[in-house]
Amino acid sequence: MSVGPAIETSAAQISSFSPAQLAVIVPSYNERGNIELLYEKLAIALGDTAWEMIVVDDNSPDGTADVVNELSRVYANVRCLRRFGRRGLASACIEGMAVTSAPYVAVIDADLQHDEAILPKMLEEALNGADLVIGSRFIGGGSAGDGLSKTRLSGSQLATKLAVMIAGQDVSDPMSGFFLMRRDAALKAAPKLASDGFKILIDLIVTSARMGSPLKIAEVPYVFRPRHAGESKMNPLIVIQYLGLWFSKLTGGVLPPSFLLFGLVGGTGVVVHLASLWLFTSAIGANFVVSQVAATLIAMTWNFFLNNNLTYADRKLHGFKLITGLIGFCGICALGGIANISVANAIYQANHQTFIAGLSGAIMSSVFNYAVTRAFTWK
Ligand code: GDD
Ligand code: MN
Repeated sequence: MSVGPAIETSAAQISSFSPAQLAVIVPSYNERGNIELLYEKLAIALGDTAWEMIVVDDNSPDGTADVVNELSRVYANVRCLRRFGRRGLASACIEGMAVTSAPYVAVIDADLQHDEAILPKMLEEALNGADLVIGSRFIGGGSAGDGLSKTRLSGSQLATKLAVMIAGQDVSDPMSGFFLMRRDAALKAAPKLASDGFKILIDLIVTSARMGSPLKIAEVPYVFRPRHAGESKMNPLIVIQYLGLWFSKLTGGVLPPSFLLFGLVGGTGVVVHLASLWLFTSAIGANFVVSQVAATLIAMTWNFFLNNNLTYADRKLHGFKLITGLIGFCGICALGGIANISVANAIYQANHQTFIAGLSGAIMSSVFNYAVTRAFTWK
């Protein structure tokens, strides 16, 4: 590529400029007490490597982004990408990778649980040909140390087993949040990644393989440390999102995780519907049609809120949008109901198979409700 003379001159004038070879992406949410120490440790570990730190902060209430911005007034290799109205570890990592031109990107947690001292070794492995280098707690020399509680450790072991099943490659720590890779390999897979949840690494491995470019993986051991300041953001929602991702990968990615979560929510909605119906008819003694209408409205409201907090946690509606969203959602589900009955009836007329007709109608309305609410309610 040729650059014009004007650009060449100004590049020469900024004589001390050396483009980063490695971008260290730090996803952060309420990590103000950790950022500065993390930067200092990275600076020591990376020595004279040309590197930069990109903190991707979801507008943390504790003001993490302000701390990062203060730091970038002192150190030229620090930047903050602040996102508004959104949450999500995986999307934060990917968007951080997208704003750098460094050929290598690493992801490290802000809370100092990952041992930054192995980064030079990880970079060396990548320079020697690995597409992806994982910081592993589970190969010789590594350990989960005191970084995980007993419950978290057994949960993590189970999640690791599940991940190994879908990884299709030999990898000891697919749940690691600490890895380094070629930026172009990460960005190639990026459009096909599930944008939410914690499990970006396993998603990158499986998605790259499915796209016909499996990653050449290397692992470097490290000892997981306890969190420095602040609290973990791990919660039951993250676990459910992971299960959604796992099932999605089992279907070869045909069914997106959000469809599976939407279906799961729909299943609980059926239980809520039947329980409400029972309550109104048997316990209160109300008329059946009235009870059925009330139960339907309750179940739809239930589904709406559960989907808003679970399936679409990364694009959650708030405030007034909750009301318009709920009304739209009920309207769409009503149309889904009509689609259900029409399809079921058409199939029943054709072959008189009650079960097949009913099932087809139910599948039809689930797909309809999913697709249309995704396009309009949670766009
Ligand atoms: N931008 C952004 N948005 N960052 C987030 C979000 C979010 O919604 N949620 C968490 N983070 C950041 C945290 O601020 C932290 O820097 C990092 O992601 C990891 O979050 P923790 O809350 O510290 O997670 P953990 O320690 O429980 O889990 C870590 O270790 C696991 C291994 O046991 C993560 O690295 C997991 O990916 C890993 O599997
Ligand atoms: Mn942590």
